Amino acid sequence: MNSKTIAICNQKGGVGKTTTAITLSAALTAKGKSVLLVDCDDSNPTLTKALVSKDPSSLPSTLVDLMLFTMLDRSITDELTKAIYHHDEGFDVLPSTAKLAGITMNLNVQQDNELKNRCLATVLAQIKSDYDYIIIDAAPALNTLSINIMAATDEVVIITQAQDAAEEGIAELIGTVSNVRRTINPNIIIKGLLITMEDNRTNYSKKTSAKIQNDYTALGMKVFGAHIPRAVKAEEFMRSGQSLLAYAPKGKVTDAYLAFADEFLQSEEAVTI
Ligand SMILES: Nc1ncnc2c1ncn2[C@@H]1O[C@H](COP(=O)(O)OP(=O)(O)OP(=O)(O)O)[C@@H](O)[C@H]1O
Ligand SMILES: [Mg+2]
Repeated sequence: MNSKTIAICNQKGGVGKTTTAITLSAALTAKGKSVLLVDCDDSNPTLTKALVSKDPSSLPSTLVDLMLFTMLDRSITDELTKAIYHHDEGFDVLPSTAKLAGITMNLNVQQDNELKNRCLATVLAQIKSDYDYIIIDAAPALNTLSINIMAATDEVVIITQAQDAAEEGIAELIGTVSNVRRTINPNIIIKGLLITMEDNRTNYSKKTSAKIQNDYTALGMKVFGAHIPRAVKAEEFMRSGQSLLAYAPKGKVTDAYLAFADEFLQSEEAVTI
């Protein structure tokens, strides 16, 4: 299978990464793709709590075990079967726990750069061919785990809120992707920038997203035309255990995410800056 890995990133917290990762996975599944959604947030396993278990520590196996086994050079074949969770909406989830923070600390002190930077890539390489898409939900951080995510991914989708302050980290994130391209993963590209939580009722929000759209398009980066509106349904859906597609099939925020998924599938080339 010609599989692609997509990382949903921004080191700024609360911009809509997890919401986008879940909803893009559901939308790609609805469009006939096979999808694995990976919880790679080492600050809080929000995605796992929303879709798999309110108590991630009770799960038989998770990404934490897979990365630990890989660091110890042990086979993960049996663990993989235990760890992968089949969600009702048709996509698979590789859950995580709060102990992922310990894995990041462990990676930090590895002397061997291959082990330090490519642990996640080694794990995902063993399941990649089972799926059309692997979607990685990243943490609000730029740390060794983020480098692992960039080493493992083909493409990055940057999430930003329609706010000036949210823009600040983007240049640094682009710089990190460029460094990773030079050193660890020559194939990585930035697929584009997705604007979320746009508030159509305020001029400020509309103006700011227009500015982000213009500025980054001028830099040669794709900015997705579908802007995700701020909506109450998007605040609520994670408590339901479902994606936005199932929770609010007729919502305007769901329509925007479906339009984004269409654009995502149509975009053949991302600009590599
Ligand atoms: N379009 C939206 N409209 C309104 N609320 C939203 C929208 N998208 C996300 N939210 C809410 O904003 C909060 C942050 O969203 P989310 O968890 O997806 O962000 P995140 O970038 O993954 O955060 P973190 O950096 O902490 O992982 C959540 O409570 C979520 O329900
Ligand atoms: Mg998140």
